[in-house]
Amino acid sequence: MNARSSAPRMVRLDLAGRAYDIAIGAQLIDRVGELAAPLLAAPRVLVVSDQTVAALYGARVAASFERAGVQSASVTVPAGEGTKDLAGFGRLMNDLLDRRPDRRTTLVALGGGVVGDLAGFAAAVLLRGVDFIQVPTTLLAQVDSSVGGKTGINTRHGKNLVGAFYQPRLVVADTDVLDTLPRRELLAGYAEVAKYGLIDDPSFWDWCEKNGSALIAGDGVRRAYAIEHSCRAKARIVAADERETTDLRALLNLGHTFGHALEAETGFGPDLLHGEAVGAGMAMAFTLSARLGLCPAPDAERVRHHLGTVGLPVRLRTIGGDNRRQWNAARLIDHMRGDKKAEAGRLTFVLVRGIGKAFVTREVDETALRGLLDAAIAA
Ligand code: NAD
Ligand code: GLY
Repeated sequence: MNARSSAPRMVRLDLAGRAYDIAIGAQLIDRVGELAAPLLAAPRVLVVSDQTVAALYGARVAASFERAGVQSASVTVPAGEGTKDLAGFGRLMNDLLDRRPDRRTTLVALGGGVVGDLAGFAAAVLLRGVDFIQVPTTLLAQVDSSVGGKTGINTRHGKNLVGAFYQPRLVVADTDVLDTLPRRELLAGYAEVAKYGLIDDPSFWDWCEKNGSALIAGDGVRRAYAIEHSCRAKARIVAADERETTDLRALLNLGHTFGHALEAETGFGPDLLHGEAVGAGMAMAFTLSARLGLCPAPDAERVRHHLGTVGLPVRLRTIGGDNRRQWNAARLIDHMRGDKKAEAGRLTFVLVRGIGKAFVTREVDETALRGLLDAAIAA
């Protein structure tokens, strides 16, 4: 596949009456208007972005809408997870309403997962619902958060506890915008790429082991391949279980019960990015599975080795670069109980029988869990 070819690669997410395309390719940021125009209820869009992404790509997206004969205005929010809260949401809604949208106006989420989740939720409720388009600019957003319609915001009770399933009309993923993404953010997104191999696709995991470092170093062809492969995997799962009513979509939460606890303990702040937490959490899910005799120990070692080799923090002592952090197993388990995946206090885990063999369980022995956490803290 040629990442620089002018025709984007298209992945279809098949949902009855609400199917949409994910366009993937180089230089698509200049073609957002052209790709979006045929889908718009009216030639009017409001582009929501964060300050960093707006400065880098806002003008190019606006120019693409102008070339396509679409009127656009923009609303900018501060960058970072802190913007995805009730106060930030309130400010965004008022800023959007200041631009006098109508029900045929389309919102465009230009940015990473924070902007996508926030603007997607805004679209779900603005004037009781307007269309929206995702233009993800982080690797994490291109392979995960922009696809599948989970939108939402954080409250003081936790992350993503207020939200809606609300599907976009189109996703446009420009592989070139990843060139300006800080390496740490790229690595965090890579954890979500590798996740698809670990869930049910061992040959993709093999591909990741061989190609992950080159992808992270900037290889455009490998990036495009990984994004397309990841989007196909996610589209297949979401099409079969849009609202996580069976355990199928829940498999996408591999690493998340551990990761959520680590994020909660580090205050959902810059010490641990979401994707980093997922990477560390996947390593822990494999180690626990091996300790429980469910998964061959060499598989768990392969996972830890590869994620660690590309530069993800798989050891607790490397998280946040702060060797003095006092991790505490009981507190981590408490955070797990507060996760929205917990049901009536029962912890839900995605465990594995090997690479590419993930399954959901609510039957994890707490002594084994405690033993794993104590060992991870001591390592
Ligand atoms: P993010 O949106 O905060 O982006 C990370 C940083 O990169 C920000 O500072 C942003 O300004 C900057 N940035 C974005 N694109 C850039 C570019 N091309 N060049 C330079 N800088 C750029 O973080 P994220 O990792 O994309 O998303 C994390 C969020 O996604 C979390 O809130 C998480 O809960 C959510 N999420 C949602 C889903 C879902 O299914 N909806 C799935 C996974 C994660
Ligand atoms: N990121 C998990 C999901 O979309 O279900």
